[in-house]
Amino acid sequence: MKRIVGPLLQWYETNARTLPWRQDPTPYHVWISEIMLQQTRVEAVKEYYRRFLDRLPTVEALAQADEDQLMKLWQGLGYYNRARNLQKAARMIQEEYQGHFPREYEELLKLPGIGEYTAGAIASMAFGKPVPAVDGNVYRIYTRLKADASDITRGPVRQRIRQEIQEIVPEKEAGAFNQAWMDLGALVCLPNGAPHCSSCPLASCCRAACQGNPQAYPVKPAKKERRQEERTVLLLEYQGKYLLQKRPDQGLLAGLWEFPSQEGRLGLGQLQDMLSEWDAQEDEIELLGKGKHVFSHVEWHMLGYLIHLRKLPDALREETWSTPEEMQEIYSIPSAFRRYYQKIQPGKLQ
Ligand code: ADE
Repeated sequence: MKRIVGPLLQWYETNARTLPWRQDPTPYHVWISEIMLQQTRVEAVKEYYRRFLDRLPTVEALAQADEDQLMKLWQGLGYYNRARNLQKAARMIQEEYQGHFPREYEELLKLPGIGEYTAGAIASMAFGKPVPAVDGNVYRIYTRLKADASDITRGPVRQRIRQEIQEIVPEKEAGAFNQAWMDLGALVCLPNGAPHCSSCPLASCCRAACQGNPQAYPVKPAKKERRQEERTVLLLEYQGKYLLQKRPDQGLLAGLWEFPSQEGRLGLGQLQDMLSEWDAQEDEIELLGKGKHVFSHVEWHMLGYLIHLRKLPDALREETWSTPEEMQEIYSIPSAFRRYYQKIQPGKLQ
């Protein structure tokens, strides 16, 4: 493995991507970008990253941010607990580290939402510590280099690979070394589609490339099927405002705002029965059509209705009613509802 370090660093020197978070790799910049990049493509992250730093430029600003503002900045990135953990960690840095970002890998690991990968990324890229940051790119490239058919979803396998990578991290260039894997993974040793072995600096020592089957690695175990859930989404409108409800503090999309929804697909007759139970009088019900959203473990198959109310039911008087403009400014509504949310934005309402 030691043999790959030189060619990898050399390749990175001329092929490194120019990315916003690389221009000034402070621990805060590295941290925010890494958390965003865990769930979203580089191209899509750029705008989120710019907007986030514009509004919350420091650990202190993040620690003090209002929850709705934070969720709004994260809207569309998904995995909202990551944003909540960012804030918890920022508060810890303020309170327990007097506002100074911890420099040591072991200390970084104690912060909420920072695991081995992110701690390695911050420690190496912002503080130059010789620790690895082993992500999916590294597992993929490593298993190809060695034609290693181990199941990389297994903890002990990951541990072994991390250990091997740890042993070859260059003392003085750990940040470049770690980022070189990321760029090699993004530009050459691609996760989907044929890798560009002819332009790979490691091709001559890559077993899978020599065997002619790099795409066979990493060997993936059969995926578990996602749970399928049917839901009916109700956009209740009264005098230009829409009913929003906050999701429970735990579980899927915890604490975010949504249009009320029910399990199952309600037909028009069932919907009318439900509305009369609430003593709601509707002027008109529009069918908004089907929508689908795929989460990691579950798929929602939705059916949406837009219900124009003539009278506000007493039971819903104290709830949150929002204009489409307020939804854009204040409330973070997860992408799962985008299809329906877009229908009521100005210019979209027919
Ligand atoms: N993917 C994850 N982290 C990254 C980074 N810092 N640069 C480029 N791609 C990445």
